[in-house]
Amino acid sequence: MAIPRLYGPCIVVSLLVSLLTPAFAQSSSSSDVELLLGKIKASLQGDAENILLSSWNSTVPLCQWRGLKWVFSNETPLSCSDVSSPHWANASLYRDPSLHLFSLQLPSANLTGSLPRELGEFSMLQSIYLGINSLSGTVPLELGYSTSLSDIDLSGNLVNGVLPPSIWNLCERLVSLRLHGNSLFGSLPEPALPNSSCGSLQVLDLGANKFTGEFPEFITRFLGLKELDLSNNMFSGAIPQSLTSLDLES
Ligand SMILES: *[C@@H]1O[C@H](CO)[C@@H](O)[C@H](O)[C@H]1NC(C)=O
Ligand SMILES: *[C@@H]1O[C@H](CO)[C@@H](O)[C@H](O)[C@H]1NC(C)=O
Ligand SMILES: *[C@@H]1O[C@H](CO)[C@@H](O)[C@H](O)[C@H]1NC(C)=O
Ligand SMILES: *[C@@H]1O[C@H](CO)[C@@H](O)[C@H](O)[C@H]1NC(C)=O
Repeated sequence: MAIPRLYGPCIVVSLLVSLLTPAFAQSSSSSDVELLLGKIKASLQGDAENILLSSWNSTVPLCQWRGLKWVFSNETPLSCSDVSSPHWANASLYRDPSLHLFSLQLPSANLTGSLPRELGEFSMLQSIYLGINSLSGTVPLELGYSTSLSDIDLSGNLVNGVLPPSIWNLCERLVSLRLHGNSLFGSLPEPALPNSSCGSLQVLDLGANKFTGEFPEFITRFLGLKELDLSNNMFSGAIPQSLTSLDLES
């Protein structure tokens, strides 16, 4: 009989695999996947089980993890567009060490946790869109240590605390920063480099928070800004004349 003869070697192989699996699986998971499963998921989720985040599970093929986009180390995007994509049902893709998280996109997803500091650790993460959730806690200092973030939207959450000065570390790469409608307070931190122009920054929306202190004059040096919203805060002092030198569209 053909089938038993096939089983023999299979059993040996699967025994070997199961003996090797614990160490192998750990060292060969993409480190971004480990970070997501180990830290990010629990932190974003908070106390309530979240239906979207429950898709982040190594028993689910990576393409079906909700709200994530991936790229390979050579910057080729992982195509997960639909069920016809060759990667859609690939159950071992999550172990591919050349895959990196590119985008975290879970707006209006009922997230009730907080922003984990490990969000700053993804080497190729360009965008974080977590608007309209119930995330609380602070904007982690470590976000500013990210090497690739260019778009951040945390609007419409319950984020509080001060905006960490490290956020301006992202200055030259940052295209849009939306923190509208949170409970951030204190004065806006100045960029560490005095003449920073944040050349790529086009959108800065800090409206509807609880910022205080002098009107942040350094923003008038952000010459690439197209959209600026500082409304509904508690800034004091005059609005500098130099604001008119910006070429704002709104
Ligand atoms: C992953 O999914 C399996 C099967 O649905 C479930 O038993 C397990 O608890 C999940 N693991 C995590 C970490 O959520
Ligand atoms: C699944 O993904 C792994 C890791 O990228 C790859 O080596 C393998 O060829 C893929 N399998 C299929 C059937 O596409
Ligand atoms: C959001 O959370 C609430 C309370 O935990 C739950 O009743 C509701 O079904 C959730 N909605 C979605 C879209 O997950
Ligand atoms: C910042 O600008 C001032 C005045 O415009 C100039 O004197 C100074 O050298 C500049 N500093 C840096 C670090 O570019």
